[in-house]
Amino acid sequence: MSILLGTSMVAAGGRREAVSWIPEKAINGHSLVVGSSGMGKTHRLRKLIEGVVSSYGARVHIIDVHGDITIPGEQDALFSESSPYGLNPLKINPDRYSGGVNKRIRAFGSMLSRTSQTLGPRQSAALTRLLEDLYRRNGFDANDWRTWNPLTNPNVRGRSLHHGVYPNISDLKKFTAYKLKELKTGAGGEANTALNELNKVARAMHKKALKSHGTEDEGLDPALDKAVLKAIETYTKYVRAVRTGDELNDLLRYTSAEVLETVLDRIDILDKSGIFKDAPPPLDEMAAVHRYNIKALGRDEQKMFVEILLDEIWQAAKARGQTDVPNNYIVIDEASIFLDKDPDHIINILMRESRKFGIGLMFASQSLNHFSDDVLANVGLKIVLGVDQMYISQMSRMLRVDGRLIENIRPRRTALVQCKIVGDQRNDFTEIFLA
Ligand SMILES: Nc1ncnc2c1ncn2[C@@H]1O[C@H](COP(=O)(O)OP(=O)(O)OP(=O)(O)O)[C@@H](O)[C@H]1O
Ligand SMILES: [Mg+2]
Repeated sequence: MSILLGTSMVAAGGRREAVSWIPEKAINGHSLVVGSSGMGKTHRLRKLIEGVVSSYGARVHIIDVHGDITIPGEQDALFSESSPYGLNPLKINPDRYSGGVNKRIRAFGSMLSRTSQTLGPRQSAALTRLLEDLYRRNGFDANDWRTWNPLTNPNVRGRSLHHGVYPNISDLKKFTAYKLKELKTGAGGEANTALNELNKVARAMHKKALKSHGTEDEGLDPALDKAVLKAIETYTKYVRAVRTGDELNDLLRYTSAEVLETVLDRIDILDKSGIFKDAPPPLDEMAAVHRYNIKALGRDEQKMFVEILLDEIWQAAKARGQTDVPNNYIVIDEASIFLDKDPDHIINILMRESRKFGIGLMFASQSLNHFSDDVLANVGLKIVLGVDQMYISQMSRMLRVDGRLIENIRPRRTALVQCKIVGDQRNDFTEIFLA
């Protein structure tokens, strides 16, 4: 079985040879289509998708940023603020070895830090603690893998018990708002303010003492005395007002109301994006092609969406087990938007590890910005369509191909193709007439 790409331009013995892609013979099932706008990347992706579906019966997941990669027979879902379905970034992988609560918390934190508004170290720490507490409240124990699936968790509580789901962003928002209110108005609130006041006065005095070379007698300063008395008074009140027993703990865990406030703002933005929902998109399991139309989302949301979706596809592929022939393709148009240097980023994980689980990544991109040498060296099939003059030297350098060959490409008629075969060290590009 093979997928016809075109015919070679150099006539061998007067006959033009067919040039085909045989994914199972290539170093992996990954592919890359590069070309400037309008040169036919989407057109080519469609052909490749139809090829893997008709010749291999493969499943294809299309991440469509422009909303134009339509394939006959596909099932599609449009993601927007108002769609009733979405993804859950707090879903735990229940696998005893590769999953767990702590892994999910870390992954969620790094995903947020990759978006345009990063969290400061204190906010990150508070977010981690909020998530730990939220999972614990719903009965998910970081140290006990038997609690990692809401449907089989013997200790499951709250919404996870009633609806059989993982906590979601809206739960995190409610929980954070509740903790913030406790910090501000609960028993800890006033005591916290008094302690902050005392520390402020003490710091000012200490500074003064340092300036006058420590000659001042700190104990006699009336301002400090007053602050100490005030702190004792409010702390007495605080001790008497303890209700839940978590008041001091909360203060220590969440640093301050201000920190929690900024974390809440951030979670609120996530919640309002509307892509985080319990209900999964209603895509028919029987359809070979699933298209995720994310053109309505903002850039940060698109990036988060891709990370969460790819992680889900990856977990499902691992659960299915190993296979020799690529049978699951993930199509990413405008791929340079989604690439990341972090080796733990899902795309890099998939590049390295997904081959034996049958996953092939299909990238399309206008430029090679953000493509690392590592990614480029590890793509089994490369197709270069017409390239804007501006990008020729970049492409020539990064793909190690003669710039004149790129210049010679006739848009929509010819292309350069490289299929990397297992055991073959060559790096040659072939000029072809496109099929
Ligand atoms: N080989 C081809 N033969 C005939 N028509 C083609 C070919 N390749 C592309 N086209 C047509 O050219 C137009 C632009 O192609 P396409 O949308 O695939 O470009 P693109 O590279 O994806 O552009 P963009 O970067 O803007 O998304 C489409 O109408 C498409 O049908
Ligand atoms: Mg396109």
